[in-house]
Formats: sequence, structure tokens, C-alpha cells
Amino acid sequence: MKKELLADKQVVAVVCNQWGDTGKGKLVDLLSEWADYIVRGTGGANAGHTIVVNDKKFAFHLIPSGILYDNLGKINVIGRGVAFDPKILIEEIYILEKNGLQVHNLLISHEAPLVLPYHLLFDRYSDRSEKVGTTGRGIGPLYSDYVSRNSLFVNDLLNPEIFKEKLTKYVESKRIILNSMNKEVAEKILSHKHLLNGFFFNKDTIIDFDKVVDLYTKEYSEKLRPFIENTSKVVKQARKNGSKILLEGAQGTLLSIDYGTTKYQTSSDCAIEGLAKGCGLKEKDVDYVFGITKAFFMTRVGNGPFPTELGGKKSEEYCDSSQTKNDEETNYANKLEEMLHSNDEFEKGIAIRMQGNEYGATTGRTRRVGWLDLVALKYAMQINGPNLTLTKVDVLTGLDKIKICTDYTYQGKEIDYAGRSLKTGSTIKEFPRFSEILYNCEPVYEEFPGWTEDITKIKNYGNLPENFKKIISFIEEYTGGSIDVISVGPEREQTIFR
Ligand code: IMP
Repeated sequence: MKKELLADKQVVAVVCNQWGDTGKGKLVDLLSEWADYIVRGTGGANAGHTIVVNDKKFAFHLIPSGILYDNLGKINVIGRGVAFDPKILIEEIYILEKNGLQVHNLLISHEAPLVLPYHLLFDRYSDRSEKVGTTGRGIGPLYSDYVSRNSLFVNDLLNPEIFKEKLTKYVESKRIILNSMNKEVAEKILSHKHLLNGFFFNKDTIIDFDKVVDLYTKEYSEKLRPFIENTSKVVKQARKNGSKILLEGAQGTLLSIDYGTTKYQTSSDCAIEGLAKGCGLKEKDVDYVFGITKAFFMTRVGNGPFPTELGGKKSEEYCDSSQTKNDEETNYANKLEEMLHSNDEFEKGIAIRMQGNEYGATTGRTRRVGWLDLVALKYAMQINGPNLTLTKVDVLTGLDKIKICTDYTYQGKEIDYAGRSLKTGSTIKEFPRFSEILYNCEPVYEEFPGWTEDITKIKNYGNLPENFKKIISFIEEYTGGSIDVISVGPEREQTIFR
């Protein structure tokens, strides 16, 4: 990590300016070397990152990426804002231990809300009709319980009587929902491996609550007890003591419950304010925000509006129909080059996805692919700040032209929006987060010639192709931001600091 950028910094954060999957993991890995504390504050097992342990790759979800530095005494924290699923964390600790990495310096917030089996059931059950395309990790139903004051917390794992008392009370309202469910569908969901292959299924009440109490307050509690702490206090104290702290974001600002594209969101605020709060700090405590931005394309998994999507609605439907990486490799590997240069944007989108290996880490789903959208980026930067880190820029090498979205043209029925009347043909320069509007936004593009040079070994900004730098200047001018870091490949050394 370039020393100058971090010279006077003590608390830094990595957040995504888009719909997630922007390569935060690589930056977190780089920064974990520098940090004393690595803290997660948002999301839950819906996040996914790859960790390499003794040359083997694992897709982890809950454990902070800095766990690899546990043996160097670095403290990894799961903060109060994380939707905490004990089963997932225990599995991840087990995998690490089996591969020779003992976990000593992990802390779990006693205040983090607990994911329970019925959250997983409700999430999977309702997403069949609501079609948000969630990860099925129970995130939405848990946060709903949190705001309606019906959730349990990590601390309850330590107190079986309180756990049981609370659960018994909260279960009343759950029973009404459980009883209205189609039992066959519920049974199928409950027999999924994430739900212990039917362990929680009970023919009469659907969920067997005694089993939940037993598992959580005995097995889970025993395993996790040594890690449970008041992590907000620990992190605040670490800041006072001058320790270096890295806040590890999850998902992306356009998915945030407070700022994301309505309905098609996750349920925590994964922008900078939510991250800081979920880690036990305040936004003003953060000295520098790495605004991670995939360029010069972007992706989205799950449903929801995506104005610059290559292939538009056709691509959204195609990606929703359970295509996998294998399917695409079988069907298109021999046509990849041709498709990258195709005039058909749907085909070009598939080729970019394959070129960039854009498949979900948590679900394996195909990520939808679109051109970089500066209307959305400007909006995210108003929330997260002006400092950008561009990632995956090498993926578009060889393309004849690069399109960048600068405005939208509204194509829907006339409506009132924030005190103005939106008519068909109106120009939109500010990102409207309401999906019914965004679905009717046609992107307006600025076109740039591409570059053909291999940029993956370039170390200095000055050596990048002129056509590449023209796009960089354009983005900075348009957004008023500063592109401080450019990642030209997956390895640590493939990073340019300006
Ligand atoms: P949930 O967070 O599982 O409730 O899913 C809500 C929406 O957020 C869905 O569209 C998911 O695909 C999306 N989402 C959740 N986590 C991630 C992530 O880590 N990367 C990208 N999208 C995500």
C-alpha cells in the first residue's frame, strides 16, 4: 500500500459506490496489512469474499477478510450492525481450523442481531413471489424483526433463559405466518442444507422451536462465547489509543436500505454512514473512504433497475433464469472474441461477464453487466465522498469503444417527481432512487475510443494508454472526484496509486 495515501490516516473505510461485487476484497486485503483492527459493520452472510488459505480458495461470507492476519495479532471484529448467523460463522471457523489457521483474535459484538432459522425460511419463501432476487440468507426478515423490536441478539446466546423467554414471545406472531404457508413449499425450503437438511422441520408447527433453543443456547453459545464482546467499546478505545482501523464494507451504496434503488435493496445501510455506525464509530471518525467503483463497466446481481445494462430487459430476464458460469462457458467460450466486438449489446454483455468472471460469490448467479453510469456514481459520491478507487479496468482492454452514461432520458408516463413534472423525453441528471422511475430511464452516452495495450503490468499512471487516461480525466471532471487508486488486475502488485 502506498505510504503517502495512508501517511496521516488512522481510520479508513472501504465502501462500494455501486451494486456490490466491485472488488472490495482486494483492497481490504491490501489494507489489512496496514491495519491493527479490521471491522465489519453491515450486511451478513449475504456478502461473499474469497479467502486463500494455504493455496486453497474458500468463499466466506461472515468472517472479516482480515482473519488471515490473525496470527499477526490483528483484531478482526464483527460489529453491532452485522446480521449475525452463528451457524455460518462456526462453519467458517471450522474450515479455517481444518486448514491450519487457528482463530484467536476474533471479536463478535454482543449487540449484533441474530439470524434464526425462520428468517431464512421467510426470506426464501417470500422471494418466490417478490422476486427481489435475495441471497436467501434471512437478511430482510431479520432486519424487519429488528425494527419492529422482535429480534434476538448475540448476547442472548449466553443466557438460555432469556433466549427462550424472548423467542417464546416473538414466536406468537411468527406462527400466524407459518400457519398460512404452503407446507410443501416450506418443507422443501427447510430441508435445504443452509437449514440443516430438515433438522428444524416439524409437521405440525413447521419450525421446531425447541430444537432452535437447544442448538443456539448450547452448541452455538459454547463455541462462540470466547469471542463475544462489547466491540463498539473496543473499537472506540482502539481509535483513542491511536490504533489503525479498517472498516470493511459489504454490498454497495446502490443496494443500501437508506439510499439504494427502492424495493431491490438489501436491508442494511451499506454506505459510509451505516458502515461507521455498524462498526461502533461515527462517519466523522473516518479519515479516508476508498469509494470502490468498478470501471468502465458495472454489474448487478438479483433484480431491479439498471439503466445501462447491456441488453436491457433481455439481459435481466436471462440472468434471472438460473444461468451459470458453466452454462456460459459451454455455450460461448469459442465465440468470446467475436462477442466482445459484437454490435449486439446483449452478446457483448455476456462476453464482458465471461471476461471479468462476473459470477456471484455467494450464490454463483450470473451478474448483469452494464456500462459505467456516472449519474449513479455522482449520487453515490455525494454519500461516500470524492475519493475513488477504480477496479477491474483491465477487463475492457481490446474493446473498440467504451460508452459512459452521463444523463438519462425519461421514457415513462408523466409523473410528479420531487416538485417537478417528469414528461417523456425529460432529461434526468440526478439519480432517482425510485425503481418505477429508473426502470423508465434511457441512458445517454458519451463514447470513447478504447485501448489495445495490455495494462495489467503497468505500475505508474503516466504509462497508461492515452485513450485510457482521457476517460479517467473525463470521469474526474464530470464527477468532481479524485481517482486515487486504479486496480489493473487481481494481484496486490497490480495496483496503481496516483
Ligand atoms: P439480500 O441482501 O440477500 O436481502 O438481497 C437483496 C438484494 O441485494 C438482492 O438483489 C441481492 O442480489 C443483493 N445483494 C446482497 N448481497 C450482495 C452482495 O454482496 N453483492 C451484490 N449484491 C448483493
